[in-house]
Formats: sequence, C-alpha cells, structure tokens
Amino acid sequence: MPTALQKTIFYLKAIYITAAVIVSASYGVVASIVLAFFRRRGLAQYTTGRLFYYLAYPVLRIGFRFVDGASENYARYLSSSSWWSGSPEFLRPCVILSNHQSALDVLMLGRIFPPYCSVTSKASLRWVPFLGWFMALSGTVFLDRTNSRASVATLSSAADSVLARSQQSVFMFPEGTRSGFKVPGLLTPLKRGAFHMAVQAQIPIVPIAVSNTSNLFDPSKKMVRPGTIKLKVLDPIPTEGLTREDVPQLAIKVEQMLEEAIKELGYSEVSGQIDGDDDDDQDGLETPLVQQQQQQQQQLEQLEQLVV
Ligand SMILES: *[C@@H]1O[C@H](CO)[C@@H](O)[C@H](O)[C@H]1NC(C)=O
Repeated sequence: MPTALQKTIFYLKAIYITAAVIVSASYGVVASIVLAFFRRRGLAQYTTGRLFYYLAYPVLRIGFRFVDGASENYARYLSSSSWWSGSPEFLRPCVILSNHQSALDVLMLGRIFPPYCSVTSKASLRWVPFLGWFMALSGTVFLDRTNSRASVATLSSAADSVLARSQQSVFMFPEGTRSGFKVPGLLTPLKRGAFHMAVQAQIPIVPIAVSNTSNLFDPSKKMVRPGTIKLKVLDPIPTEGLTREDVPQLAIKVEQMLEEAIKELGYSEVSGQIDGDDDDDQDGLETPLVQQQQQQQQQLEQLEQLVV
C-alpha cells in the first residue's frame, strides 16, 4: 500500500506533468503555425516533444539510453538535439514502431522523436483541448478506428502524401493500445496498419524495443521514480518490392524481433541501484555509442552542417 505521502507526491507530479503537457501543446499550436509559414511544419512535433521532455525531466528524472547493438545511424537520428537542423535525409522517411506499455511512453516520444516525423492517432483525440489542436495543426495522421474501410483509405493517403511526397516519417505504436504491464513483451498480433503503410510507401520499418518500465512507473501503486529506460533500435527492415500479400509475414517477423529484443532488455534501471549509472546524463539521454566514438560525433557534426 502506498503511504499518504507517496500518494501526495505522485499526484503532485501528475499535476505538474499535466501542466507541462498543456504548456507544450500550446507552444506546439504556435510552433505549428509559425513553422508552416517557413515551410518547416515537419519540425513542429519534434520541437514540441523536446520541450515537453525538458519540462518533465527535472521532476521525473527519467532518462533514456540506447544500448549497445542499437542501429547507430538511427540512434543518432532519434537523439538529434539541434532544433533547426534536418535529419540525415537518407534515413527518412521510415515507419518507426515501438512497444507501448504506459503513459511514460509519451516521455519517450518527447526525448527521441525525430525531426520530420509525425505521430498517428485515433481520430477522437483531435477534439481534446490543446493536445488535439496541436496534433491537428502539426500534421498528425488521424486514423478512424471505428470504420476500418475509412482507416485503410487514410493509411493509403498518408502513405502517399506524408511518407512519400513530403519525405516525412511516421511513429506508431502497433500494439494499438497500452499493454499496461499486463503481458510480458508485446500485445499481439500487432495491428497491421503500420506495415501496410510501410509497404505501400516502400520505405523501411524501424522497430524500437523499450525496456520494461514497470519498475519506474506503476500507476496502480502510485509509484514513479527516477531511472533510465533502455532502448534498442533494431536494424531497419526494408520493404522494397514487398506487396500487400507480404504484410502478414512482415508483421510476424517484426513481432518476433521486437519480442526478443524486449526480453533481452529486461527492466529499466532504477537510479541509485546500479553503481555509477545514475545522473551522469546531463540531458537525460546517454548515447554510449556516440560518446565512445568521438570520430563518429565529428562525422555527425559535419553531416549536420551539410543538412543545415
Ligand atoms: C514488466 O514487468 C512486470 C512486472 O514483473 C510484468 O508484469 C510485465 O508483464 C512486464 N511487461 C513487459 C512489457 O515486459
């Protein structure tokens, strides 16, 4: 049983995070309009996400770390922290997928959401004050879940316009809903929309496995504590040459890869429980791959200069 103090702290944090969502979404509304004016609307969700993360971090102190073996190019694309630069063009568009455990995944989106990418969302969210307005203005792909034929049509037009024509990536949680720690690993079968989109646009699928966060955040126990969530970006899966008929097999393949990676990652790291593993990440994202290999960082800087 959580004590009264634990409960109070939990609710105070929840109120702060709600306020941070409102502030970020309001910023996002303005940013979407201003960026659209400069033909850079594709940066709206990225900058809004980062703002939310940096507002939330001082209170939650939950960071993220790419583990060894994560696809380096994409780890860099996802951890990009320069506000204006584009991203390496050759990495996008792509369909980014990850497992969805809890509300904490919004924090993850904030930290790793790449430039020129869009979330997908159920259509009803459009009407939520602030958040929905921001989503609508920033180019979210809304999917109508109640009407599967309409949804397939939206997916095709999204594949065509967002992904192919404007070179914009898409981020999806293919489980369709939060697993809520009810199952170990993934809720399967994964919803097929993400795979149809990737195949239709003939662009790669980039799965991201997220470590088990139940030791950092458990709403049923009114518990949230500092730590580091481990991420593994799996090697992108090309879809060139695949057709509709290949989608079921593709989905199963990704399911298996993600399941395996999630199992391998295990639990997230609780601050203080692992020697020297807390608080040395200033902005809450350690990228050992980049840190250890300075040469690569230089390359990245050169790359960013090129892209700007
Ligand atoms: C995470 O761990 C909890 C507690 O052990 C477990 O109930 C849950 O199924 C796990 N979730 C995932 C996604 O592995």
